Amino acid sequence: MKAVVCKEFGPIENLTVEDLPDPTPGAGEVLITVHAAGVNFPDGLMVRGEYQMKPPRPFTPGNEVAGVVTALGDGVTSLSVGQRVVSLCGLGGFAEKVVAPADRALPIPDGMDFNTAGGLMLVYGTSLHALQNKAKLKSGETLLVLGAAGGVGLAAVELGHAMGARVIAAASTDEKLALAKAHGAELGINYTTADLKSELKRLVPLGVDVVYDPVGGALTEPAVRGLGWGGRLLVIGFANGEIPKLPLNLLLLKEGEAIGVFWGAWTQRDPAGHAANVARLMQLYTDGKIRPHIGGAFPLNQAKEAIEAVMNRKALGKIVITAN
Ligand SMILES: NC(=O)c1ccc[n+]([C@@H]2O[C@H](COP(=O)([O-])OP(=O)(O)OC[C@H]3O[C@@H](n4cnc5c(N)ncnc54)[C@H](OP(=O)(O)O)[C@@H]3O)[C@@H](O)[C@H]2O)c1
Repeated sequence: MKAVVCKEFGPIENLTVEDLPDPTPGAGEVLITVHAAGVNFPDGLMVRGEYQMKPPRPFTPGNEVAGVVTALGDGVTSLSVGQRVVSLCGLGGFAEKVVAPADRALPIPDGMDFNTAGGLMLVYGTSLHALQNKAKLKSGETLLVLGAAGGVGLAAVELGHAMGARVIAAASTDEKLALAKAHGAELGINYTTADLKSELKRLVPLGVDVVYDPVGGALTEPAVRGLGWGGRLLVIGFANGEIPKLPLNLLLLKEGEAIGVFWGAWTQRDPAGHAANVARLMQLYTDGKIRPHIGGAFPLNQAKEAIEAVMNRKALGKIVITAN
């Protein structure tokens, strides 16, 4: 099978596509013929050696795939050969075939295509867990989403809207804001051309209830200053490369909360909660409440371009790598 290979940590342009032996599913695992794999920010960090998890080299990146089950390991009874599934696989997803634990592979609804499925679970899973389980976002509340046209950001916009919140999108270009508005944001703030703190004060004088922050850096503090009484900051990630420091008096003054979100670890600690959230996402999709935006689908031999689009702030919505 063909697979993307990272021989040593370094620039994304050093990735190669090579012929590797097909993987074999062990006990409790399934072999999946991959049709689409979602590209996520951590994939690029991992290739550069900048992620908290540093796999032994060589390795094939790619943590989420959609495809067809083509073989079952010993003891697997929950899935059958030929079934369409979406799965987290840790590593190995940017390949024609991958092995995944059977309990991480979940069925895809009939009406969902592989590209949508391959880009859905991680970003929508993260945002649903953050908004629903951690911030306990309520209908009628106001939600500010930073990086609102990126993978997790656009998912948060759609889910916030679906949950009945008033969504304010913040992003670096007007094109990105237009996309966020098309997916449910009521208002937009371009933080390249306008000052986030004063725009928030103008648009929401009483402050927002929840800030969803996957960007970090210099944007976090003005966003926290824009929280209202009892507001919650969701700490999602630091795509801008800088982990912000916060004056804690900002939380004291509003009885606010800063809430860390680590979706991947949570899915392992609470598999039943994760399965329930994925089922909810599939239902929201079937009901037409979420419509994931696939900003680009790249074949396996253009995996470098796909990952670079995500890392270089070029991606709109979700980028996927296609195979088979
Ligand atoms: N906590 C969790 O469980 C969890 C789960 C998934 C992802 N994450 C994290 O969430 C973050 C976003 O992931 P993603 O897959 O949604 O990435 P993405 O699609 O690339 O979106 C990130 C957004 O960040 C903004 N950004 C600002 N400065 C940037 C820079 N220097 N480089 C790249 N982007 C920059 C961009 O929006 P603008 O151009 O509009 O500023 C971009 O759209 C990452 O840090 C990732 O590790 C966390």
